[in-house]
Amino acid sequence: MTTAQTTELDVQPTPLALLLLGREADPRSERGVECPGDLPSPSDPDLVERARAAKEKLGDKVFVLGHHYQRDEVIQFADVTGDSFKLARDAAARPEAEYIVFCGVHFMAESADILTSDDQKVVLPDLAAGCSMADMATAEQVAECWDVLTEAGVAEQVVPVSYMNSSADIKAFTGKHGGLICTSSNAKRALEWAFEQGEKVLFLPDQHLGRNTAVRDMGLSLDDCVLYNPHKPNGGLTAEQLRDAKMILWRGHCSVHGRFSLESVEDVRARIPGVNVLVHPECKHEVVAAADYVGSTEYIIKALEAAPAGSKWAIGTELNLVRRLANRFAPEGKEIVFLDKTVCFCSTMNRIDLPHLVWTLESLAEGKLVNRIEVDKETEAFAKLALERMLALP
Ligand code: 13P
Ligand code: SF4
Repeated sequence: MTTAQTTELDVQPTPLALLLLGREADPRSERGVECPGDLPSPSDPDLVERARAAKEKLGDKVFVLGHHYQRDEVIQFADVTGDSFKLARDAAARPEAEYIVFCGVHFMAESADILTSDDQKVVLPDLAAGCSMADMATAEQVAECWDVLTEAGVAEQVVPVSYMNSSADIKAFTGKHGGLICTSSNAKRALEWAFEQGEKVLFLPDQHLGRNTAVRDMGLSLDDCVLYNPHKPNGGLTAEQLRDAKMILWRGHCSVHGRFSLESVEDVRARIPGVNVLVHPECKHEVVAAADYVGSTEYIIKALEAAPAGSKWAIGTELNLVRRLANRFAPEGKEIVFLDKTVCFCSTMNRIDLPHLVWTLESLAEGKLVNRIEVDKETEAFAKLALERMLALP
């Protein structure tokens, strides 16, 4: 469990329906809660100057992390950019920073809190910056799933592997049951490790990363995989199906990467002859199977850095990153387009904007700790175990 401490409001949980109207939010959820402070107006022409001044005032006390999917207006203030795992490690390597301002989403801030020292305070500029995928696996649902696996007589053969994009509770469950965390860059090594420990894997919460890694990288077949639906009795599976399966995939997905379709791949190939299709492994299996290259955000950036001048690329990942890469590499003669025809931002990542960053930095500069993300000690201990197993991978 995480406690999001707010200095001015005691925010109460509200039903999910209200979240969808954008009015308030459930602090137990990855979607977080509304910003408790007085935000500067987005039209304030001095926002950039205010952020710069507050950051300068804080000096080495603050370290700002920016995930690759953040807006340009926020990324310009990041001391370091990266994927969620790299950022958490970068934060841990900065023990002199009292405040870690995480421009990303809730599960990333939790992971940073787990991996940093007790004296460091991790701050999320907007508590409503959650992850819809992480929300698709709650601690209660996963505990119920384990009961189903136990009833079917398979729990002892199962090793849980959880994607970094999960709540601290799920990471703790994973650590407690002998499993480990993976990211999109080390999912294959994590699965290899897991299959050395047991006969089956319960992969949480992203079915696509689990399926793509098992089938594309490990040589398993689609028939080796079953889909556990937490909204159906017994996950919608029979004991026999669970006994026959090698990969038990949780029915979760990323709402951003889930938008790319086989049609978008076929369409871009018809529009741009010779285009290289490069997609994130959170995309659906048929999209990944039709792509030329597949990899994490760090992989995508490196592939484009290494690409020759004159090459053409269609990228299947979040739009802020694709736009930034298109602008960065255009002067080198690399043509980079977004894979889908429709706009595809991560709406929760996008909640972190300049007004929230200014409010956060100015509050910290005034000595007011806001929007702290703190994982409780017991959860932290087990979640850390799962993260450390990942860190120890060869
Ligand atoms: P990576 O940055 O680890 O590739 O993950 C992508 C993502 O969806 C982050 O939320
Ligand atoms: Fe979650 Fe997808 Fe957004 Fe990443 S891009 S934070 S997985 S919803």
